[in-house]
Amino acid sequence: VSGHRTALLIGIGAGDPRQITLQAIEAMSEVDTFFVLDKGASTGTLTGIRQLILDRHAPTVPLVLVPDPPRDRGVGSGLAAAERYREVVDDWHAARARSLAAAIAEHVPAGGTAGFLVWGDPSLYDSTLRVIDRVRDRLELTARIIPGITSVQALTAAHTILLNRVGEPIHITTGRRLAEDDGRNTVVMLDADCAFRATADPNDLIYWGAYLGTEFETLIAGTVGQVGERIAETRAALRERHGWIMDVYLLRKS
Ligand SMILES: C[S@@+](CC[C@H](N)C(=O)[O-])C[C@H]1O[C@@H](n2cnc3c(N)ncnc32)[C@H](O)[C@@H]1O
Repeated sequence: VSGHRTALLIGIGAGDPRQITLQAIEAMSEVDTFFVLDKGASTGTLTGIRQLILDRHAPTVPLVLVPDPPRDRGVGSGLAAAERYREVVDDWHAARARSLAAAIAEHVPAGGTAGFLVWGDPSLYDSTLRVIDRVRDRLELTARIIPGITSVQALTAAHTILLNRVGEPIHITTGRRLAEDDGRNTVVMLDADCAFRATADPNDLIYWGAYLGTEFETLIAGTVGQVGERIAETRAALRERHGWIMDVYLLRKS
């Protein structure tokens, strides 16, 4: 277990393998073993995509799946439950760090490099860096990051739009917290419920994209009044057809 190691977090873009940078390809060749934190649901497809990337750019480097420890979800409600929820999440992160530290110690020699292919860019709604920070309580490890193209950039490129109008701010949030938002340009990620239906004005503009950069890429744009329902229906149908979905959208006050 002793000895210094490097954790290399490599952004791989949000779905199109051509979004992988030359810097990322170079970094892949430094890695001794790649690790995937298995999160169920869409992991099958996403691990498949990672494997394709490795087959192409680092065919001899092994990929190890680190199963996610089970997460205790039954915490009830109320104040005590909120406290309990924090404890549950904290225990879960600690358990994740423990299994990852063990896997790194087993598969990466001292002085070596552990690699993580991170969807999009590691800075945006991704827990890899947080988990690595906790692994560092257990292993001597230095983290390095290679940036990638985020799903936000994939969305604006697909619609040929800017993220902001002149001089305006941008806000990035989750579906769950969209109701608190009062921004003029809001990017919404991780939204399973089409939260815009409850919060947006019918005149607001929406630019929606699903499976960006993949063969299933689907785009819809218009005012929420015109296309909101169509987005919700399309999303449900696509999710049904493929068994998983990843979508992101920009809401803009008109
Ligand atoms: C856990 S976050 C990871 C974001 C990632 N680190 C990034 O840089 O884009 C997952 C969310 O990103 C968005 N997303 C990622 N890839 C996408 C894609 N190819 N098409 C549409 N949305 C995507 C979705 O909102 C999804 O719920």
